[in-house]
Amino acid sequence: MYKLGIWRGEKMTRTRALLGKTRQFSYCLLKTGVHATPVDIARFETVIRTVQLSSGICRTTYSERFGDLDPLVQTVLKRIFPVDRPLIIHDLAASDCLLSMLWAKRIFEYFPAARMTASDVVLYFTEAVWKSGEAYILEPDGTPVQYTRAPFVVPLHVREHAAYIVNTLVRTWARRHTREVQSCASSVRWDGVPDYRVVNIGPWSLRQIPLVHPTALSFAQNGRFRVAHIDAFSELPLKCDVIRAMNLYQPYALPIEQIRRGIHVALDALRDGGVFVAGRTLEKAAQRNDVTVFQKTRGRADVVERLGKGFEFEGLATEYASDQRLAPGHTSAASDCEVGRGDNSAAHSEIAVSSKRAVPAAARPCTDQVASSPG
Ligand SMILES: C[S@@+](CC[C@H](N)C(=O)[O-])C[C@H]1O[C@@H](n2cnc3c(N)ncnc32)[C@H](O)[C@@H]1O
Repeated sequence: MYKLGIWRGEKMTRTRALLGKTRQFSYCLLKTGVHATPVDIARFETVIRTVQLSSGICRTTYSERFGDLDPLVQTVLKRIFPVDRPLIIHDLAASDCLLSMLWAKRIFEYFPAARMTASDVVLYFTEAVWKSGEAYILEPDGTPVQYTRAPFVVPLHVREHAAYIVNTLVRTWARRHTREVQSCASSVRWDGVPDYRVVNIGPWSLRQIPLVHPTALSFAQNGRFRVAHIDAFSELPLKCDVIRAMNLYQPYALPIEQIRRGIHVALDALRDGGVFVAGRTLEKAAQRNDVTVFQKTRGRADVVERLGKGFEFEGLATEYASDQRLAPGHTSAASDCEVGRGDNSAAHSEIAVSSKRAVPAAARPCTDQVASSPG
């Protein structure tokens, strides 16, 4: 048995294979021109929802996702911060950054001096096409994630169901070139994101495929919104007033200790008086957002607001105590490659977490004094 992929823009509506299985979109379809057309954008938005990284974390995102969350967070921010505060905001694991851009627009309207960084650990793929037309897709660190040889599109980091014997053979065939393609890709230094060059190395043609939404890339020209490569599980390079981490702490893909570390590095990077927003969208529960809004007060995270059932790992945030962590003000050497500056870095189910859920506290207004306190 076999399953064909979707590798042409005009064939994108036939997404089911025999037996009703979902057909893979070729990530080559994420490519847009320098001036992305509405058709390019629609194609990008369809395919980005299906992208899965080698870590097991998906890129799933879409513009309506935070229709209830953004107004709630805005209300909290208005309650806490004076309108003229030059808020430093960080949206972690922002995927294609479209939701960050929509959030930024709302915040900038009310807080005219605010600035936002939207970051993710993967901002682009590299596409390497061999002379025969076979295409490999690699993550920035060189991990091959997909192979397209029309009419087949096969994942390289996970196995297909054993019943798809032909796909398994195609995958094995693809493996013959993976070392060579990794070696070529590692020799290319992209000049930020986007970089529209085509780099030819022997029989290979390499292109960058930006994973940042074309509209967000344009918005990033305004000087107040930027896109950066930042690993959300390493010490963060920015001290912030507001940090959001939505759909990053995924229990199916990450061990609990890593989730704890991620939450604690985010809280380390938050100034006292600052706001932390964390949670998950439950796609299978009518796309419900289970989110908690915390305020960091005297080095601890207090719950100030909840949406849906709240953040499932709330207990990992409320257990945090900054005085048992790193020295305040310490900044990280984690790579922070801004878009346009050159980025080639390699760098609900209910879960049993000890979670004594705190009763939401009334958010404390953040005075200048609090904001200028260490950390
Ligand atoms: C499901 S998407 C979430 C996108 C967006 N925040 C939302 O909720 O719609 C998860 C994102 O986490 C990113 N990610 C995975 N590991 C990461 C890490 N170590 N540091 C930063 N981002 C990471 C992935 O690249 C992916 O874009």
